Amino acid sequence: MSKIGREKSVNESPKRIGVLTGGGDCPGLNAVIRAAVKTAIQQYGWEVLGIEDGFEGLILSDKIRPLTLTDVRGILPRGGTILGTTNRANPFAYKVRKKDGRIVTRDVSSEVADRIRELRLEALIVIGGDGSLKIAYEFYQTGVPVVGVPKTIDNDLGGTDISFGFDTALNTATDALDKLHTTAEAHHRVMIVEIMGRDAGWLALRSGLAGGADVILIPEIPFDLHKVDEKIEQRDRAGRKFSIVVVAEGARPVGGEQIYQEKDPLAPKRLGGMAQWVADELAKVCDHEIRVTVLGHVQRGGSPSPFDRILGTRFGAAAVRLIAEGGLGRMVALRSQQIVSIPLEEAIRELRVVPLDSDLIQTARGLGVCLG
Ligand code: F6P
Repeated sequence: MSKIGREKSVNESPKRIGVLTGGGDCPGLNAVIRAAVKTAIQQYGWEVLGIEDGFEGLILSDKIRPLTLTDVRGILPRGGTILGTTNRANPFAYKVRKKDGRIVTRDVSSEVADRIRELRLEALIVIGGDGSLKIAYEFYQTGVPVVGVPKTIDNDLGGTDISFGFDTALNTATDALDKLHTTAEAHHRVMIVEIMGRDAGWLALRSGLAGGADVILIPEIPFDLHKVDEKIEQRDRAGRKFSIVVVAEGARPVGGEQIYQEKDPLAPKRLGGMAQWVADELAKVCDHEIRVTVLGHVQRGGSPSPFDRILGTRFGAAAVRLIAEGGLGRMVALRSQQIVSIPLEEAIRELRVVPLDSDLIQTARGLGVCLG
């Protein structure tokens, strides 16, 4: 881990850099783009090219455009990404559907590397989660100059205490739980809420705690449905006739599997359906009326919270300073409130899941929250 300097580097400054957003979007992407463009142009006098739709912009020919100060004006509070994104364009395994319906997978990475050279990009800023940063690292190993910026609402990227996007999603999920609370109480119902989180339960656990959930099921702890039912019945006996059950989309029962939606051969596997499964199973043993809410992509949308705007801005500016210092192959990260950089390899080595001995888990258990 190293601190990122504040001084303008005078020699060996790249003249032109590129920026792309890859994988699922999240609030705060535009804050990063804005900060990177402003810092590159104003502090270093560089040109910036925006690559549209993630790595696809380097695969297809018409998806690259200059980014000027005018292009980034007014985008700080906007969700999404002005550059567009996709989670279907891995240049090392690019899938296309042929006219006859067959899906073929090609390695187009050397064409992409050539493209980066032709464009005279002295560095490419990849703003992405686990998948996009793995691709960035693969490119780096072949000599392509990249730096990474961590984004994900799942907050599961290693090496950084937090990724931008998470705080806004947490606010959205907590707000939904507050709203479901009042209607659950009015109707004496069990409300089961599915929250995003493929492999890590950060969003489910934190929103569940913030929203006063009675049961929180996360991928890290396979759950026993009897314990969930027992918690609901125990509340019932105590006169609490409603319950809020938070289910991370990546949760699974003891001895069971995660649930996926129908497979699209061009896209990564998509989770979804665990809340409905829990509802169907509970309905067999529990007398309460049950309703299911799947929050879905609402959690990825909307204006970034002040926290995410500031973190995104710090990351974007730091990524440019990192390039100026020659810190290629690294990712900016937040560690103990400080912006630092770490090798990309370290960032993607392991997903950051909720430690079972963390104080969050202990706190939830101490409060009587059922974790399955
Ligand atoms: O990784 C972020 C995430 O939002 C996951 O929580 C979720 O499983 C996935 O992306 C959904 O992706 P898509 O946009 O392809 O539906």
